[in-house]
Amino acid sequence: MISIQDMATFCKKKGFVYSSAEIYGGLAGFWDFGPLGVELKNNIKKEWWNFHVYNRDDIVGSDGSIITNPKVWEASGHLSSFIDFAAVCKKCGYKTKLDKSEVGKLKCEKCKGDYEIKGEFNTMFLTSVGPIKEDSTKAYLRPETAQSIFINFKSICENARLRLPFGIAQVGKVFRNEIAPRDFLFRCREFEQMEIEYFINPKEKFPYKIGNSKILVYSEEMQEKNKPTELMNFKDIYKKGIVKTDWHAYWLEQEFLWFTSLGADPKKFRIRQHTKDEKSHYALDTWDLEYEFPFGWKELQGLANRTDFDLKQHEKFSKKDMSIIEEKNGKQERIMPHVVCEPSQGVERAFLVFMFDAYTYDEKRQNIVLKLNPKLAPIKAAVFPIVKTPRYEKIAKDIVKDLKKEFNVIYDGSGSIGRRYARNDEAGTPFCITIDDKSPKNKTVTIRWRDDAEQVRVKISELKDILRKVISGENLFKLGKKINTRVKKL
Ligand code: GAP
Repeated sequence: MISIQDMATFCKKKGFVYSSAEIYGGLAGFWDFGPLGVELKNNIKKEWWNFHVYNRDDIVGSDGSIITNPKVWEASGHLSSFIDFAAVCKKCGYKTKLDKSEVGKLKCEKCKGDYEIKGEFNTMFLTSVGPIKEDSTKAYLRPETAQSIFINFKSICENARLRLPFGIAQVGKVFRNEIAPRDFLFRCREFEQMEIEYFINPKEKFPYKIGNSKILVYSEEMQEKNKPTELMNFKDIYKKGIVKTDWHAYWLEQEFLWFTSLGADPKKFRIRQHTKDEKSHYALDTWDLEYEFPFGWKELQGLANRTDFDLKQHEKFSKKDMSIIEEKNGKQERIMPHVVCEPSQGVERAFLVFMFDAYTYDEKRQNIVLKLNPKLAPIKAAVFPIVKTPRYEKIAKDIVKDLKKEFNVIYDGSGSIGRRYARNDEAGTPFCITIDDKSPKNKTVTIRWRDDAEQVRVKISELKDILRKVISGENLFKLGKKINTRVKKL
């Protein structure tokens, strides 16, 4: 795996990610996404929404504002508890942030020296609402999307006619004034979250099934007793009481499956339970889905059991009833639902995972091949004439015009054919469509699959349908006639 610095360099070179306002020297923790980056990011969010909202019938979406009434943050506990400690290593001067549980326990990650605490900070960004200073109200940029789900809970529940168990999903920008932003997109000050609050009636039975997929497990007990991680399947993880609730085990598996269904390497994932000291103020039990980055195992997604903490807090502070009435066997019951799990995922961290797992150097081709899942790939196909003649170019441009109605495809006419393949391999473009000498007469083209450079010949009239199928996962070589691309030896 390449280093995080090399990944940042690659992302900048290819137009995935730039440091924000680079012409002015940038600003730590803020990043801008270029032409390929914005497409990958949008595709990640789209696939997350497909998996969690459209493909289920128990989750609906919402989209709250970034700035809201500051009372929200008082009720949620963020004003009093969203605190980090700024620490500087006494020996090497390395700056970092520590949370409460780490103060006095952690040694410097660079030189193992002792940290000196330089103060504590609330990591919410402060702003003011209203242009006239004297009349303005103090407000905060939201540090998580979750709270707007809680404050709109009753309206969403009524409008979507939801019955427990159900979830509310949201994707949106959040802001944290991190003391030490670092590791490229891993720790930013502005980023996006994809979150679900999943509500249940704690008296009701778990209605789904936990599967058999395997993952490395690192429980609180294993961490305390210095035991190694263990490879286990999710069913056993629940049966053996390692993850205490069926719901929690179920959601951990779902989140792992979301990543692996989009091409992430299952061997680089583990689930780690939060220890007593590190659990958030609202959580009964929290597990992180972690990924082995080049700088170590790190949190990719937090999955907390928030119980009825948030709804009760908002009921207390707003003095509005947050419970719902459900009918069971002809009887009406008033329930304060519990958030049995809150899968909370940063888009930028998912972006890094997919980029690291896709990045390969092909010795034979002597270029980088970005093996992104076609669903995530920024550009779905590049279309080009094998040689630049007006006749071939016209066919290529007509194909692009037609495919563009449905897919993000490009016309690529510059440089040699080898250069065009290499450029598209590096951008992660899964399919290259070439117009050659057979195209004008036979009305066929070739499609090259990025990962092995093999090609099939297909009819132009079938291109749209084939592209639809291969992007959704069908094998290209079952849809067209494979052609021999090897040069014959004389
Ligand atoms: N609502 C719960 C919540 O916000 P969190 O563990 O603080 O929980 C959830 O954040 C996820 O947001 C993390 O697992 C990570 O993917 C992402 N995240 C958190 N801080 C981040 C940062 N500074 N930069 C990039 N992503 C971050």
